[in-house]
Amino acid sequence: VPYDLTVSNPTSVGIPYPGGLLAALAHEDGRSYRPEPFGLASAREAVARDCRRHGTEVDRERIGLVASTSEAYSFLFKLLCDPGDAVLAPVPSYPLLEHLAALEGVRRLSYRLGADDGWQPEPLPLADTPVRAVVAVNPNNPTGSFVHADGARRLAAACTELRAALIVDEVFLDYPLAPTATAPTLASRGEVLTFTLGGLSKSLGLPQLKLAWIVLSGPEPQVVRARERLEFIADNYLSVGTPVQLALPRLLEEAVVIRQAILERCRLNLASLHAAGSALPGLRVREPEAGWSVVLEYPGVIGEEALVLELLDRHGVAVYPGYFFDFARPGTLVLSLLPEPHVFDEGVRRLLDLLARHL
Ligand SMILES: Cc1ncc(COP(=O)(O)O)c(C=O)c1O
Repeated sequence: VPYDLTVSNPTSVGIPYPGGLLAALAHEDGRSYRPEPFGLASAREAVARDCRRHGTEVDRERIGLVASTSEAYSFLFKLLCDPGDAVLAPVPSYPLLEHLAALEGVRRLSYRLGADDGWQPEPLPLADTPVRAVVAVNPNNPTGSFVHADGARRLAAACTELRAALIVDEVFLDYPLAPTATAPTLASRGEVLTFTLGGLSKSLGLPQLKLAWIVLSGPEPQVVRARERLEFIADNYLSVGTPVQLALPRLLEEAVVIRQAILERCRLNLASLHAAGSALPGLRVREPEAGWSVVLEYPGVIGEEALVLELLDRHGVAVYPGYFFDFARPGTLVLSLLPEPHVFDEGVRRLLDLLARHL
């Protein structure tokens, strides 16, 4: 597709990664194998240091390394659920969650995020199935919305009522789009047993390195017990490679320039979308607070499927229809903010031309 506005792979869009970035993977100590279920202490210490950028003090003993956030979800579902139990997850949000739950024999029930209150979580305990975890994505993908204080309180209250743990996916926390946006992490919250997820796929823009983390917080006895059992699960896989763990302190130091480049790209594309979109009456750009994507609403004169297929087949532009993410409003599209600016601008131009013709 010449104009792919669905791209989520940061290594394929001309982001300049620093030369020699991966040299640290050749660390001599990588020759010997020291199996550690939660990962090497030096790597966990590096994650703890990194958490301080968001104002969180975390003991490295409360950090577990995994190969990816997807693996983190799988381990947590194994930890918290028996087959047939449920987790309560936001909609619209990251679509993989449904599969990750199903693969563990777990039901994904959903709670709806509404555009009118800035997509804030309000999980309602409606299930007759035991709910073992409530999931929040902060900031959410693809709505780009942070979980604000009220939403965080409601999440904790729902977890208390359901006697469920809280899983907070913060892989996009490093990407606030408005210069003044604050990035409140939920990792330091202590009311309920909480697992906060992050990882290199977004923080360093290198998904192929396969390193992510789980930060545990909450009431001490629950954290201690969860930690023991999670360690047992991780010990059965030992899935994080030694070279990437040894390189982690160095990689996290270098990450700042990569993040800056990705963030500038996203901000630039968002600004040009605003400029181009303002010419089309009825088009609404839902301002994202953070992340790598943006939600567009158009007057529902043509169905999402028909629009997206016409755009793809006749005009060489790929965008996501909102129904992929279960948006309630028909006439919603999701665009990635990652593409190279000339690709993004031309893709948007063709999209707007097509919409204008249908209006
Ligand atoms: C919200 C969210 N969580 C997790 C992931 C997956 O991250 P990982 O590569 O660490 O599995 C993604 C990937 O796009 C995502 O959007």
